[in-house]
Amino acid sequence: MSAEKVIIFDTTLRDGEQSPGAALSISEKLEIAHQLAKLGIDVIEAGFPVSSPAQYEATKLCAEQVSGPVICALARANQKDIDAAGKAIAPAAKKRIHTFIATSPIHMEYKLRKKPDQVLKMAIEAIQMARQYTDDVEFSPEDACRSEMSFLYEILEAVIEAGATTLNIPDTVGYVLPYEYGQIIANLKQNVRGVEKAVLSTHCHNDLGVATANSLAGVRNGARQIECTINGIGERAGNAAMEEVVMALHTRQDFFEHVTTNIQTREIFRTSQLVSQLTGFVIQPNKAIVGKNAFAHESGIHVDGILKHRETYEIMTPEVIGLSGSTMVLGRHSGRAGFIDRCRQLGYNLSDDEIQAAYEKFLEIADKKKEIFDEDIAAIINDEVRTVSQTYVLEYLNVTSGTGTIPTGTVRIRTQDGAVHQAAACGDGPVDAAYEAIRLATGQTPQLEHYTMRAITGGKEAMGEANVRVKGADGRTYIGRGVSTDIVEASAKAYLDAINRIASCIGTNTGDKANL
Ligand code: KIV
Ligand code: ZN
Repeated sequence: MSAEKVIIFDTTLRDGEQSPGAALSISEKLEIAHQLAKLGIDVIEAGFPVSSPAQYEATKLCAEQVSGPVICALARANQKDIDAAGKAIAPAAKKRIHTFIATSPIHMEYKLRKKPDQVLKMAIEAIQMARQYTDDVEFSPEDACRSEMSFLYEILEAVIEAGATTLNIPDTVGYVLPYEYGQIIANLKQNVRGVEKAVLSTHCHNDLGVATANSLAGVRNGARQIECTINGIGERAGNAAMEEVVMALHTRQDFFEHVTTNIQTREIFRTSQLVSQLTGFVIQPNKAIVGKNAFAHESGIHVDGILKHRETYEIMTPEVIGLSGSTMVLGRHSGRAGFIDRCRQLGYNLSDDEIQAAYEKFLEIADKKKEIFDEDIAAIINDEVRTVSQTYVLEYLNVTSGTGTIPTGTVRIRTQDGAVHQAAACGDGPVDAAYEAIRLATGQTPQLEHYTMRAITGGKEAMGEANVRVKGADGRTYIGRGVSTDIVEASAKAYLDAINRIASCIGTNTGDKANL
């Protein structure tokens, strides 16, 4: 019996970007989309074009430049949304419109203020409008799992008749449990007339921590598309995590007989790191598959078992998700060729100028830190190469603090026109003092909402990575990132990175988010 494919539909750039605090620029979205294509994602939901010019532009650029996957755009069930979606995806070789309308009594009554027969009519018309742009049309009855099943059957039959080719079943509020979700899919397979003409799809939110389990239950009962996001990011507690559903299907082929995916699992780790770096969402250490500890064995009994026979405590190998397992480290004497080779092995495709910038930073760090690990290289590349336009450059930073000393920071910042701005300020601590000095020097006063600092690798020479989330005067959220062996410098760089993003307008407009 030949294997049946489970389509992996990635919505990191749409539902994932609806995470509170996520702020991706258009170029960052494009970079993620290219990596999703490398990963073997079948369908990329690139955005919700009607919601803002930036969403439209990002979706259109993906449609123009990302080849391989189907490029999909989200639209509510109305002409304006569908026209925006249809136009944004027009350049893609393979394109899909995903249209949705709520079908649960609570959503229809309080949110839409519409009767079921009006919703039914809107759904049918939406599919007909979408079919004007593409034959590949997906329909989602929003809040499907809290809908009356008889109404769900009726609306799904009607949209199949109108030309929908994928029927997505969202557990919008993450309410149902795996057994229930599996039953819903099984019931739809059995009771919806014409269901064999369409692909049933899962779309599970993680409010009760069972999004992955629900998606898998869906597949067990006949769903052949899973909607998911990298690292499980998304609205509230997030969506089903791509790496979890894919690795569960991969690892438990005894249970998921005859199903397969297109995913190149060795790209999973890199994709996860890229999304974490660009969204600023740090991955929890115990996160399944991609967390720092996912393949770490600490207890003596486990380590002993692993050494005797790997499978005693490991159900999958780190290599399968693209962790090299290599302990090879670089240092000051590795040379330019060694550095370039390692970048290539890690999958980075850099231009000559980018290599030069990254190599100079590598040398600077190698002077302070004997051993440079893969994670350090990734951080250097993200810090040096993937920078936003440098309206403000930090040229000098000096901070004094200590017991009995008032923390004081002095900065010198150069602006693009060559002007130099100096300022000094006191604060509650060294980072606060540096931030106050930066505010005085730049005249920008973004409000700090969130700050994290993490060691990129272990050991006393570890580089620190600071991540900040700020609110600009325009009410938008911006992230900033900074890396250094000095944690106060990393913090200052992160804050200035956020200010540079404000200056380049690279933030999340609250209006950019889908008004679902
Ligand atoms: O969770 C949800 O219901 C959605 C729909 C737009 C598919 O994201
Ligand atoms: Zn969703």
